Amino acid sequence: MKKIGILFGQERSFPEAVVERINQKAEKGISAEAVKIEKILQNSPLDYAVIIDRISQDVPFYRASLKNAAITGTAVINNPFWWSADEKFFNNALAEQIGVPVPKTALIPSRQHPTGTTGESFSNLTMPLNWDAIFDYVGFPAYMKPYDGGGWRDVYKLHDKEDFFDKHSGTEQLVMLLQEEIIFDEYFRCYCIGGKHVRIMQYEPRNPHHLRYAVDGKTPDPKLLKTVEEYTLKLCQYLGYDFNTVEFAVRDGVPIAIDFCNPAPDADIKSVGQENFDWVVETTANYAIERAKAQKPGQDNLTWGEYIKASVAGKPLIAKTTAPTAPKAAAKVEAPKAKVEKAPAKPKAEPKTETKPVAKKKPIK
Ligand SMILES: Nc1ncnc2c1ncn2[C@@H]1O[C@H](COP(=O)(O)OP(=O)(O)O)[C@@H](O)[C@H]1O
Ligand SMILES: [Mg+2]
Repeated sequence: MKKIGILFGQERSFPEAVVERINQKAEKGISAEAVKIEKILQNSPLDYAVIIDRISQDVPFYRASLKNAAITGTAVINNPFWWSADEKFFNNALAEQIGVPVPKTALIPSRQHPTGTTGESFSNLTMPLNWDAIFDYVGFPAYMKPYDGGGWRDVYKLHDKEDFFDKHSGTEQLVMLLQEEIIFDEYFRCYCIGGKHVRIMQYEPRNPHHLRYAVDGKTPDPKLLKTVEEYTLKLCQYLGYDFNTVEFAVRDGVPIAIDFCNPAPDADIKSVGQENFDWVVETTANYAIERAKAQKPGQDNLTWGEYIKASVAGKPLIAKTTAPTAPKAAAKVEAPKAKVEKAPAKPKAEPKTETKPVAKKKPIK
């Protein structure tokens, strides 16, 4: 019997539904349950062919347990090594290299010294930094957010450099991104599972939480949706995420990737709505079964992205022929290739998961 386990925190609707759906399918030799851990010993396998990880970003003990599970044969969704390695700034650099438009972004050192360091630890930084060059590159209005953030925590909208210095002074030890604001006409949030299944959801981040998936706007252009799907697949395949969401702001017809490092995305029925929930449960169940069937005991069964594969092979990522940063003017969208699923427009309530917490310490101002 191959077991599929799901590891989760406070969220309730999604984990139970995935376990139930997998078991309903009654695939020969495959069952699902909530992961049970009673001890973790080095190089000692957990009894799972597959583990769907929804919480190790908040629990370092789980992250280390999952690496140990991976080296002893478990297919962990998502790869815990990669998830420990990347963050939003690196991912933006990768997006530029593979031709997915992203906002112009600079990395800003933390305002306070990391615990255990002093001014002496920073002899390599020019003080002050060349702020004028940074502001000229990014422009205002701008967004400032943690380089490894999530759940809208510590995200600021900034109007000018005084506003930047004022807000930055309160960000303590956070390493921040300073990013061009994309003023958008449409916004999409897309689930991507297995680097191949995409669900595009219309999303309005300017609405209150409970209405963000309730978009009654114009029907999106199918060509635009094809480009959104293509970019979503490309990002997830190059990063190597089995389960992720990708957000795009559309400016002048061009989808620009805003947030695509969400390896435990909100999947609560109350936030995403019934139809999106049904899709994500069904697709996760099918994908976990597929991974369980493919899993080979005693060897690495993780997904490694195209970036890592190219690096290990000593090859360049891809030729940099496409527009690297967010273009100002309308660009031609790709010709459609396959069917894109459109999101229903009427979800209702507020998301509440640990993986993408709703509570903001500091709201967007
Ligand atoms: N560069 C940007 N241009 C326009 N809106 C942005 C930009 N960056 C962030 N936002 C807005 O702020 C929200 C939260 O930022 P995001 O990058 O998604 O952070 P998180 O990972 O915390 O969700 C986005 O959904 C979007 O509405
Ligand atoms: Mg986001």
